[in-house]
Amino acid sequence: MSDSKPVVLVTGGAGYIGSHTCKTLKRARYRPVVLDNLSTGHRWAVKWGTFVKGDLLMPEVIDRVMIEHQPIAVIHFAALAYVGESVRDPQRYYRNNVVGTLNLLDSMRRHKVDKMVFSSTCATYGEPRLIPIPEAHPQFPINPYGRTKLVVEQALRDYGSAYGLKSASLRYFNAAGADPQGDIGELHEPETHLIPRLLEVAAGLRENVTVFGQDYDTEDGTCIRDYIHVNDLAQAHLLALETLDGGGGTQTYNLGMGRGYSVRQVIDAARKVTGKEIPVVDGAARPGDPPKLIADATRARNRLRWEPEYLEIEPLIETAWQWLQHRLKHKEKYAD
Ligand SMILES: NC(=O)c1ccc[n+]([C@@H]2O[C@H](COP(=O)([O-])OP(=O)(O)OC[C@H]3O[C@@H](n4cnc5c(N)ncnc54)[C@H](O)[C@@H]3O)[C@@H](O)[C@H]2O)c1
Repeated sequence: MSDSKPVVLVTGGAGYIGSHTCKTLKRARYRPVVLDNLSTGHRWAVKWGTFVKGDLLMPEVIDRVMIEHQPIAVIHFAALAYVGESVRDPQRYYRNNVVGTLNLLDSMRRHKVDKMVFSSTCATYGEPRLIPIPEAHPQFPINPYGRTKLVVEQALRDYGSAYGLKSASLRYFNAAGADPQGDIGELHEPETHLIPRLLEVAAGLRENVTVFGQDYDTEDGTCIRDYIHVNDLAQAHLLALETLDGGGGTQTYNLGMGRGYSVRQVIDAARKVTGKEIPVVDGAARPGDPPKLIADATRARNRLRWEPEYLEIEPLIETAWQWLQHRLKHKEKYAD
């Protein structure tokens, strides 16, 4: 092998958060190998590592990658992640997110890979009883997507006790923004996240954005969410990996800014950043959308020494706006 850096297998590395994490890994002392079926990811997003097209539902493909690349650890992003779709078609979600992960864990055991960093989510908490939400908060997810992630967290704990597989489950709040230096960023089709939808309106790609619910028990009546920059997430993956590599045990960590912004505040910030009007329309509240989700990320800050760089919404939106403008200017590069 030409490169003697330790290999990290990154499932879902052609996706939004995975591609940013590959850049962070590559800049540190690792060589990312991406395994992705491109169901929602993009070939152009794999710029910092080897690409293998393959599906976690095909165990022989995972084994082949393990044999060929001999990773020291796995960072596991690959999943389907649309809440509404998971309600309509739970079978697909349980198969992809749970069976796919069990295939991956089996292969890791066969090939003696004993460390995993896993993409979990604040959706595992369900309706919060306490704000900000600590990791010890009860987990009662209210949709199949959140339940698939909770099942995997539980499997990881059991595999840890029984087989010595060490893991870090990272419960992200709302990932947002784009790498300010690299030509990668968020491109989900369909796009369901608030910030890219607002920016698509600002760029003239859609007419307006619907605000779901105006009568929540919050200062301005709209939902409050915790947004975390994708590069801050990427950095947390590196730190979690290094903590496991340095002998750390199985743990869960919340990853968020630790402060919330209402939908109206995000809209105002997007208007300010883009200088565009961004029309919005009022829509009904969505069932199961809690009024407030804010992370208590003290554990990640203390134990991983994680220091998120983006602690205000405007600079975060600015990176996403730069990325969208770049992508529209160079459409041919992002055509897949
Ligand atoms: N984006 C967020 O705000 C957010 C919040 C919480 C948790 N998460 C979790 O973080 C992870 C990454 O999210 P993202 O926004 O980057 O999503 P994404 O859709 O951009 O990336 C997921 C990647 O996994 C790949 N994939 C899916 N199923 C696969 C399979 N069976 N085999 C191989 N590859 C497969 C897709 O092609 C895609 O490249 C997901 O697990 C998601 O549930 C995301």
